[in-house]
This record gives sequence, structure tokens and C-alpha cells, in this order.
Amino acid sequence: MNKVQSEHLNNQLKDSSPEEVLNFFIKNYKNSIAFSTSFSAEDQVITHMISVIDKTVRIFTLDTGRHFQETYDILDITRNKYDLNIEVYFPDFNKVENMVNEKGVNLFYESIENRLLCCSIRKTEPLKRALHGVDVWVSGMRREQSPSRRNIQVVEWDDPNALIKVNPLVNRTYEQVWAYIRENHVPYHKLHDNGYPSIGCQPCTRAVKPGEDIRAGRWWWEMDGHRECGIHVPSPPSIR
Ligand code: ADX
Ligand code: SF4
Repeated sequence: MNKVQSEHLNNQLKDSSPEEVLNFFIKNYKNSIAFSTSFSAEDQVITHMISVIDKTVRIFTLDTGRHFQETYDILDITRNKYDLNIEVYFPDFNKVENMVNEKGVNLFYESIENRLLCCSIRKTEPLKRALHGVDVWVSGMRREQSPSRRNIQVVEWDDPNALIKVNPLVNRTYEQVWAYIRENHVPYHKLHDNGYPSIGCQPCTRAVKPGEDIRAGRWWWEMDGHRECGIHVPSPPSIR
């Protein structure tokens, strides 16, 4: 698989429904497809769709060790409701220990470098491990989520992991995601009811005020507005 092939598949599938996109990749890449879930509203929609198509598709989550209790609750609820095996990946404990002993448990508040280091040890490295041997990585990203996601495609080449990334909900709105959840009785993360449209680690996520951007509560103390951990959109050189 390469970039040219991914562009070809994107042209072929860019107007297809999320279910059609998932069906296509599950059928053609059955043994090398994996879906990463953070249990966001979008990810819950995709989990529901996958469970209807094929329950044996690999689904994994990255446990950073700093999640909200409600994230662990929805993990269990989802696993039980759909009878799915959701793989849990942890960070390398030696790297976490070294980082925390050298820079403190709350290092992320001190500088963007520290924050990106924590995200890279707790998220990016375990992600690489989870994606080993995978050709097709399914993610719940949508264009509307942030300016840095405005140009993402339904099928795109992911250079850092050298694989195809599939974003079935790329064109969907927040309202469409929630309409699907309601119509299909999809279980969702409790914090969505408390003003959290986007949920990451507990120390790095706060509720947003009415009218604020969907991702305004992520790394809210950072002023440059990038609001990415690096697993999808590389950090701009100025903050690397
Ligand atoms: S993030 O990069 O800012 O954390 P976001 O929360 O918007 O990403 O989620 C976008 C997609 O990244 C999710 O739909 C999911 O596919 C993947 N993702 C994010 N966090 C995790 C996680 N902890 N475990 C597994 N997948 C994740
Ligand atoms: Fe660390 Fe915060 Fe990134 Fe989670 S979101 S990995 S706690 S910096």
C-alpha cells in the first residue's frame, strides 16, 4: 500500500456513506484493519457500525494512565453491550517513570515541549505498537472538529505509520453524530452531558462554555491554539 493507492481509494470512496466505507475496508483488508477508539461520540458511532458488520474487527484503545474514571466506565459498558474484545495498550512504564521522576507528574502544564513529550510517551509510542502490522487504521476524526482537520480525507496516507488512515465520519457534523447515537441507542461517554464535547486525558481536558470551539477544552492553557497531541496532525515546527 502507498500514497498513490490511498489517493485512488479516496477518489473512489469520497462520496460513500460511513457504513459503505467501513464495509469496503473490512471486506478487503479483514486481516490488517484496526480501529482506534477513545470512546468519543464519533468513536462510539463507528464501534456501533463495526459491531453490525463484523465483531471480529480489531478495536483498540490507548490507556494513557491519566483518563477520567468515566472513560474507563464507557470502555466497560461498550465492551459488554456489543460483546467486543477492546484491546488496551499502555505506555512503556520505564519511559513514564523516567519522565515523571525527571520532570514531575504534572509536567505538561509547564511547557509545550513537556506536554508533547508526555503525549508522545503516553499516546504516540503505544499507538505505533498497536498499529504494528496494520495496513488500514480507522479513526473517528471529522473535518469540522478543528481548523487543523479541515483538509483531512476519508482515505489518506499516514506517513509516520506508513499505512492508510480511514476517517469514515470525515464529512459528518456534530449534530449528525448525535442523531445517530440517539436513533441507535448507542452508549456514550457521560462527560458529554457535562459540557465536554471533546475528551482526552483528565488533567488536559476541561468543559467548554456555550459558543466555545469543540476542542477549546483540550490543553486549554496553551495559547497557540494548535490543540493536537501529535497522533494525527504533526505539531508545527515552532512548538516541536
Ligand atoms: S486527539 O489526537 O486530540 O487526542 P481526538 O480526541 O480528537 O484526538 O480523537 C480523534 C481520533 O483519534 C479518535 O476518533 C480515535 O480514533 C483516535 N484516538 C484519540 N485518542 C485515542 C486513545 N486514547 N485511544 C485510541 N484512539 C484514540
Ligand atoms: Fe499527557 Fe496530557 Fe497528553 Fe494525556 S493529554 S498524554 S496527560 S500531556
